[in-house]
Amino acid sequence: MANLEQLKKQALEAVKQSKDIKNLEELRVRFLGREKGELTKILRSLGAMPLEEKKKVGPAANALRAELEQALDKKSAELRVNSLKFEVGLDITMPGTKVGVGHLHLLTQVEKQVREIFKAMNFSVITGPEAETEKYNFDALNIPKDHPARDMWDTFWLRQNEQLTINKKLLTESKKLKVKSEKLLMRTHTSPMQVRFMEKHKPPFQIIVPGRVFRFEATDASHEINFYQVEGLMVGRDVNLANFKFVMNEFFQRLFGKGIKLRYRPSYFPFVEPGLEIDIEWKGKWLEIMGAGMVHPRVFEAAHYNPRDLQGFAFGLGLERIAMIKYNIPDIRLFYSGDLRFIKQF
Ligand code: DAH
Repeated sequence: MANLEQLKKQALEAVKQSKDIKNLEELRVRFLGREKGELTKILRSLGAMPLEEKKKVGPAANALRAELEQALDKKSAELRVNSLKFEVGLDITMPGTKVGVGHLHLLTQVEKQVREIFKAMNFSVITGPEAETEKYNFDALNIPKDHPARDMWDTFWLRQNEQLTINKKLLTESKKLKVKSEKLLMRTHTSPMQVRFMEKHKPPFQIIVPGRVFRFEATDASHEINFYQVEGLMVGRDVNLANFKFVMNEFFQRLFGKGIKLRYRPSYFPFVEPGLEIDIEWKGKWLEIMGAGMVHPRVFEAAHYNPRDLQGFAFGLGLERIAMIKYNIPDIRLFYSGDLRFIKQF
């Protein structure tokens, strides 16, 4: 009993004085260790004790074990909290764990640049549906069925049941969309928004339409099955090609810098007359960068405008193409690879 009393004093005092976790664990081993713990030894010796002694020492030793375990745990918790405070309080310059912060994808950034430039020139930014009707994607743009020009846009057509779900959704989203029984496709360009917008608005106006488009094509370094375009449309009583050239010069200078050189080249698109393409000079080469032209009278007619009263220009540019030129990116597929090594560079 006397031994036990002494042990109790010693042990509890040692725990109280203990200054660090390592020392505390040493104490735990010293007193409660399975093999050689001082208290363990006493507990082990109980079996060989005379009954009277055992009756006294037994409960006292077990009580001490419980008390000691509790004291050790309490002290250990205390020390851990303190050591934490100590670390945090002491070295405030220690770098914390960095939280990964994301940023806008390069294409989003470029789209923003394009938007801002046009907004500064008083263009409005609008958007439209990615699932389109044949009417807006082709017919209204003077591309009738069986016209060879349709081959310019390899098309993803939607299956009947897909069409029904999308039609239902479109119908609830906007009661005015008359798409119920029409064949749907994934829009092959942003041009369908020309007629959709004109049907609901009166000129004069100037808009851009950024958005995702889809082509049923084999992919390679410069072709993807989905990519982004920015459509432009400016209509008024006497909007002319000189106005178009001014807007384009301004746009490309703001995007690529003052020294940029442009070349206007005749081209063909069913929805413009005359149609043209713009090339920019980049690192000593002419690169084709957009299609454009003066809005075709048939397109005005599709929107129930009178082509005698109005004229306007339209253009469409590929966002990836602009990003590829400006940031020296060799392959369009990189944009959609999800490869962080690429994405983090911009
Ligand atoms: N929609 C055309 C395409 O995807 C690009 C284009 C050409 C748009 C001429 C226009 C335009 O508005 O006038 O290839």
